[in-house]
Amino acid sequence: MKTRWYKDAVVYQIYPRSFCDSDGDGIGDLRGIISKLDYIKELGVNAVWLSPIYKSPNDDNGYDISNYRDIMDEFGTMEDFNEMLKGMHDRGIKLIMDLVANHTSDEHEWFVRSRASKDNPYRDYYIWRKGRGKNGKKPPNNWTSRFGGSAWEYDDTTGEWYLHLFSKKQPDLNWENPAVRKEIADICNFWMDKGVDGFRCDVITYISKEEGLPNGKFNPIMCGDEHFVLGPKYHEYIHELNKNSWSKYDSYTVGESTGITYEKAPECIDEKREELDTIFGFEHMCTDMYMEVIPHKFRLPRFTKVLTKWQNLPSGCWNTLFLENHDQPRSLGRFTGDYGDKRYEAATMLAVAMQMQKGTPFVYQGQEIGMINCKFRDEDYLDVMARQVFAIAGKIPFGKAIARACLAKRARDHARTPMQWSACENAGFTTGKPWMMLNPSYKTINVEADKNAGDKSIFAFYKKLHAFRIGNDVIKCGDYRQIDGGNKDVFAYIRSYEGKTLAVICNFKNKQVNFPIPAEVSRGKLVLGNYKDSRIGQPLRPYEAAVYEIGK
Ligand code: GLC
Repeated sequence: MKTRWYKDAVVYQIYPRSFCDSDGDGIGDLRGIISKLDYIKELGVNAVWLSPIYKSPNDDNGYDISNYRDIMDEFGTMEDFNEMLKGMHDRGIKLIMDLVANHTSDEHEWFVRSRASKDNPYRDYYIWRKGRGKNGKKPPNNWTSRFGGSAWEYDDTTGEWYLHLFSKKQPDLNWENPAVRKEIADICNFWMDKGVDGFRCDVITYISKEEGLPNGKFNPIMCGDEHFVLGPKYHEYIHELNKNSWSKYDSYTVGESTGITYEKAPECIDEKREELDTIFGFEHMCTDMYMEVIPHKFRLPRFTKVLTKWQNLPSGCWNTLFLENHDQPRSLGRFTGDYGDKRYEAATMLAVAMQMQKGTPFVYQGQEIGMINCKFRDEDYLDVMARQVFAIAGKIPFGKAIARACLAKRARDHARTPMQWSACENAGFTTGKPWMMLNPSYKTINVEADKNAGDKSIFAFYKKLHAFRIGNDVIKCGDYRQIDGGNKDVFAYIRSYEGKTLAVICNFKNKQVNFPIPAEVSRGKLVLGNYKDSRIGQPLRPYEAAVYEIGK
């Protein structure tokens, strides 16, 4: 039944709120996506991951779901959804939906009933506990929300606390309850019966909490992880969900797996375990951030060491490749340093460095035209996480200034400014007032300008890259070997399969760099690169990226 089609896929992630608005309310929507299906097809990807489009009060832009079987009002109707799905399938594009199953919205009917009394059948859908202290007015344990502050909220109605590992409007579901697990399987089946091809499983590694909910080791930012990341029944629950839903379809699943190291990955994705097909490992994204929030200097060897480790996953495991998503700042600048007037070279170099590796690549909307971080004033940040960071930081001396410095580099808002389609009013994203400020860079960085940029078009490069990659067995199946791993300027590696060899050489610096080429790859034909006349063994120009086919 399983064709494992994802091994030949390149996935494009859409953050619907910011992609394209069709009706002038300033919020992206499904008809906006429909109007851009030819664009997505032209980019040469063959799958889409759609961030949540379900009914939601939008405390966390759709990651707080109030009805899993209906479409968010601002995004359209189920008819629009059906048309969008058909439009994708007609173009040979698969659709992966976002499955947010660790928590719901507090406005979901299950939670509304759950909080109403202690003895209703939905009480046990969530995690309720008595408080500590004399009057029970202290939270049940010291776990923190990923957005900051305690992970518990006191509820007056019944005088108990509920757990929320994210915002207080996102109560955690109680996966210990078989009825909850059945609800989730039914939801997956509902969408797969409609023809959806798989799921990106939101913070899925948090679903099983250790019995007794013990206090976590002291950590002022993220406390409690050791009691719920890959918790005791995680594997049992995911295997069950696979059996009751995913395995019945030719599906693909990718789990968001914050906190999972390379060493732990095989137990999550080995085919034999029949759990998730793949995960997003975040180790490479943490090489320039402490605890995912505090930026520190980017050093290439640290980064490539992690990527190389993940290239050597045991057989039976499949990797994913990404530098951006809706929770991360833009990759340009972050991994390239100051690129000055070399935005084309830097953006295309990153694309080559990632996509010539083994695994399924994910491209985030706007990455294909080299969109960049935005300069925000404090009041421009809209993300629940940024607002929470400011609220907490405001209580300590210099806190605001520190928060400002971190968010300037780290805020999730950077990835969420509207897609830049043209230099026209509102970047062609909407005819109304955009829900979130536009990045002023849209005057020069936009789809229309990029497509007209001739041999400096990032979009055209991505298109070429995808055409080269999809169906290429050396890239799909080949061995991977890094050359000169400790090099602080250049990321280079060799892929080989059945007598065919590709050498990939990427200069991460905005300067000329000499890179000694091993004898075995000293002769090769340029098959892809961001400078037309790259020659093997020549000094590398700023951000030069080249793929050579090595003759026997
Ligand atoms: C994931 C999502 C993020 C969301 C969080 C809570 O990390 O990617 O956007 O805020 O889960 O659902």
